[in-house]
Amino acid sequence: MRKPIGIFDSGIGGLTVVKQLIHFLPNEDLLYFGDTARIPYGTKSEKLIKQYALEDAAFLDQFGIKLLIVACNSASAVAVDLLQMTLDIPVTGVIFPGVEAALNESKLKRIGIVGTSATINSNAYNKRIFEFDPSIKVFSQSCPLLVPLVEEGWLDDEITYLTLKKYLIPLIDVNIDTIILGCTHFPVIREAIQTVVGNNITLIDSGKEAAKLVQKILTDLKIASQEESRGTFKFFVSDDPGKFTEIGERFLGQPVISAQRVDFDTFLIEQGPKLYKPLNLYD
Ligand code: DGL
Repeated sequence: MRKPIGIFDSGIGGLTVVKQLIHFLPNEDLLYFGDTARIPYGTKSEKLIKQYALEDAAFLDQFGIKLLIVACNSASAVAVDLLQMTLDIPVTGVIFPGVEAALNESKLKRIGIVGTSATINSNAYNKRIFEFDPSIKVFSQSCPLLVPLVEEGWLDDEITYLTLKKYLIPLIDVNIDTIILGCTHFPVIREAIQTVVGNNITLIDSGKEAAKLVQKILTDLKIASQEESRGTFKFFVSDDPGKFTEIGERFLGQPVISAQRVDFDTFLIEQGPKLYKPLNLYD
């Protein structure tokens, strides 16, 4: 089926998921929306992230996407169920596939989760893990400082290593064997993380696992692109695309040739309150 896949994120980090999608699904057309005007999501309340997620999804849905990927871990943690109820297309986040991979990987049944404060406070990863196997021991660590360090480009910097040690040594101390990278930005510093935790701990990239899951969903539902030519990708952002294109390569693994700013405020006004029906924003 020649319809695009929609992907949204709070901003730039979701490009790490797009990188994996391009790898696993090279023939699919991808439409990306980065909410750069309202980043970060990881420090926001659950209610606000749900509202943003509904708005971001509605923006992409108007292009006739065949499937939606919530690339942002913070939004995946709180809003995937809501989006699945609201939209008529398949919706997947990054939590479920990350959890599945971690469960397959962990021999000691001791798993670490790292992510933004919103992701960790939501307990979304823990809840999913316990649904599969209540005997697993889960240790969570919010690592909010890593997001700005990655965006700053301090990938191999002393400050990044010190910050990583501060966050990760408590996880190493409790003898985990697997860590889920529960934030879009963390695959960019994967090598630094591996150096700090050592080679006995397996790192799971939720975005990569999500791309593999999407490949399976498209095949199962018979909606994969049948095109032999490579798919196209288009990037929309809600603020000036300057920084997005400038540092995007770090996340995407190739230059972000062009990104288009959309008038998101006007879109939201035109959508009106019908968008928020599933949300009781004032309870
Ligand atoms: N994309 C976010 C996530 O994966 C990180 C950046 C933010 O806080 O918005 O949680």
